[in-house]
Amino acid sequence: MAEIHIRNTGERISGEENVRAFLDRQEVLYEHWNPTKLPADIQEKFILSDEEKAQILSTFDEEIRDLAKRRGYQTWDIIALSDATPNLDELLKKFEQVHTHTEDEVRAITAGKGIFIIKGSDDVGYFNVELEAGDVISVPEHKPHFFTLMDNRQIVAVRLFIETEGWIAHPFEDPTFQKA
Ligand SMILES: [Fe+2]
Repeated sequence: MAEIHIRNTGERISGEENVRAFLDRQEVLYEHWNPTKLPADIQEKFILSDEEKAQILSTFDEEIRDLAKRRGYQTWDIIALSDATPNLDELLKKFEQVHTHTEDEVRAITAGKGIFIIKGSDDVGYFNVELEAGDVISVPEHKPHFFTLMDNRQIVAVRLFIETEGWIAHPFEDPTFQKA
């Protein structure tokens, strides 16, 4: 289940209801899917064939279509990252820049872990959302954020788009953002 870490105060928020209430106030959508619907071998696999990606999408077809219908997503795909990903370090360096998009950024984690760092309301500042398998998040359009992996450096997620062009990253220069 997702956990929140508020960077300015060090405060941690855990437990589904607390996390959901906090993210609600920050206008970040948070939902949960059952990751054990996937066959056990796929739950721990981070290098996926096209057939295995299709299998993940069909396993969560109902959840994906429900979310898409409510929120207007037209297309979806699977992203898998691990140490087997070519140039993973360079890729992460590119990811780890605060930016915005003109549409929301939706990720449903189906295996592994990841973190969204998001600029919250003025009283909260930047906060981390640590995500694991089953966690579904949508960062609203125009909200500064970035995504990165956690220490295990592996993740599989479903991405949903209204239109793929909406996902272009626009750098957000923010002198108040402090790394680490
Ligand atoms: Fe993004």
